[in-house]
Amino acid sequence: MKNLGYYNGKIGLIEEMSVPMTDRAFYFGDGVYDAVMCRNNIPYLLDEHIDRFYHNCNRLSIVVELSKSELFSTICSLVRMVEGEEKFVYFHASRGNALRAHSAMPKNGSLCIMITEQKMGDIRLKMNTILVPDIRYELCDIKTLNLLPSVLVAQRASIDGADEAIFQRNGIITEGSHSNVSIISNGKIITAPSDCHILPGVTRAHLIKEARSIGIMVEERPYTIEELLEADEVLITSSSKMLRGVATIDGEGVGGKNPELLARLQAIMMDNYLSYTSA
Ligand code: PDD
Repeated sequence: MKNLGYYNGKIGLIEEMSVPMTDRAFYFGDGVYDAVMCRNNIPYLLDEHIDRFYHNCNRLSIVVELSKSELFSTICSLVRMVEGEEKFVYFHASRGNALRAHSAMPKNGSLCIMITEQKMGDIRLKMNTILVPDIRYELCDIKTLNLLPSVLVAQRASIDGADEAIFQRNGIITEGSHSNVSIISNGKIITAPSDCHILPGVTRAHLIKEARSIGIMVEERPYTIEELLEADEVLITSSSKMLRGVATIDGEGVGGKNPELLARLQAIMMDNYLSYTSA
């Protein structure tokens, strides 16, 4: 198949699948999601993404009928049905199906999975970004389906010819519209603390781990717009982009002052990806 959609056990091409109007994802965005890259039919770090997914479901009392290991094996068998060497696997659970009422609590959630061909691309290509006010709420650590602010700023970035929007809240950098943002400064990595204002990214966690393993200090602390603009390198991490440097913010050049460390971290992370997913 060229892509695959799954909804509560039904499978088909995404364009041909449909979702009942009673699904609470449809009118409330009442659900959570996760996403992984997949190469050679091996979803990368799927266990970590599944752990975060169930953690988020539990926080919102969303019941997924499949166990963690059942979801793991379902995804692993579905990816084999889709053509392509590299794929993106998106999965979400909504609270389930019920007539529209804010307070409705259906017994079981609904599970949706989408698999499309997607390449990681050349991670050495730097990204262009814009800086925008963080207009989101205090639950950014939950990977909710409610992404309106992120969608709006990502669209703004795209209109401006940029690849990503970086959120700032009262002068403090939080994260990207669909990525985490960190900086390299004086040989150290500085990244926003894992609190209710950022998603605890799986890729961010791996960056921290790999950097520490080669003796690079990592500070998890709030950092300012000024620190971002003056950083030696600005880093974007996400499952689909891995680790990318930033070339510009609002059209002005940033970073580019420690390309050796950026390239070293990228090489380590890419090696992990390639060896984990080698057939
Ligand atoms: N986005 N922060 C936000 C707001 C995100 O949406 C994402 C991921 C990340 C990075 O998380 P991870 O390293 O676990 O992918 C941080 C996914 C890829 C998306 O929405 O498509």
